[in-house]
Amino acid sequence: DWTPDAFVETTIKELQEKIGDDKVILGLSGGVDSSVAAMLLHKAIGSHLHCIFVNNGLLRKNEFESVLDQYKHMGLNVKGVDASARFLDALKGESDPETKRKIIGRVFIEVFDNEAHQVENAKWLAQGTIYPDRIESVSASGGPSAVIKSHHNVGGLPDYMKLKVVEPLHLLFKDEVRRVGRNLDMDSTILGRHPFPGPGLGIRILGDITAEKVSILQEVDAIFIDGLKKWGLYDKVWQAGAMLLPVNSVGVMGDERTYEKCVALRAVESTDGMTADWVNLPYEFLQKTSNDIINKVKGVNRVVYDISSKPPATIEWE
Ligand code: XMP
Repeated sequence: DWTPDAFVETTIKELQEKIGDDKVILGLSGGVDSSVAAMLLHKAIGSHLHCIFVNNGLLRKNEFESVLDQYKHMGLNVKGVDASARFLDALKGESDPETKRKIIGRVFIEVFDNEAHQVENAKWLAQGTIYPDRIESVSASGGPSAVIKSHHNVGGLPDYMKLKVVEPLHLLFKDEVRRVGRNLDMDSTILGRHPFPGPGLGIRILGDITAEKVSILQEVDAIFIDGLKKWGLYDKVWQAGAMLLPVNSVGVMGDERTYEKCVALRAVESTDGMTADWVNLPYEFLQKTSNDIINKVKGVNRVVYDISSKPPATIEWE
């Protein structure tokens, strides 16, 4: 029988034997998988693990600062790299979903590679890849879903990086990863975090991305997510977020007619993201959240709730 205790013990030993005195580089995303992978490696090789946490400018509100702080508290050897401007610049004027993904993936690799080169004697690249990541990328590689969405965290290593890959979680499912994290005494705010796509808010801003749109969506998203937490709903939902639609609609404020942006809220139940049902959130919650968003976020005058399941809809809108 699989237990987190035994897994942690054997994995740490295996990592120590495999890696020896080499240095390892790991890209943290703020998510559960990369965080647990980092913690396991930290236990195994301590400061020989060099973590890099890149701000692509498309993270949630305050996420970069707060998660970086949390990592430092965990004792991880982590460097935060704010590359927001570089990402936004590269994305300027681009509105095709797949092209946006490719740009974000490419700039990420460039930034990451630049940082990796500064770690002397690095021999390994660690990744938080888990078992379902493989199934999804393998099954997608032949079929049309390969072109539907290119997930950039699997197999996207350029040759010139010449690093050996170590993936301590590659046989685990998500719930097992969380159990390993709890076994390592990791904070529940990290372990219970909803999945968040690598391209971040970049694929939740439909159409082209600007700094202003990012900041509008960050505010909307923060109100929604904080509300879910306050109402005790966050842990009942598998993933939630807001989409900024490329649609203006007419509204009225005081005596003034407005013509402003519309946002869609999405919350789903799922076990692996392959299929998903929209969550029946309480009307009172939706009412309060919609009021808060429209009253507090300048430039938004309409909120809708997405009641589509996957399939045929996907979780993200792009
Ligand atoms: P979809 O939208 O395909 O999403 O139903 C399924 C799960 O995958 C996440 N997702 C991504 N994750 N890079 C990622 O790292 C991506 O390009 C990407 N696209 C979707 C999505 O958030 C959901 O959890």
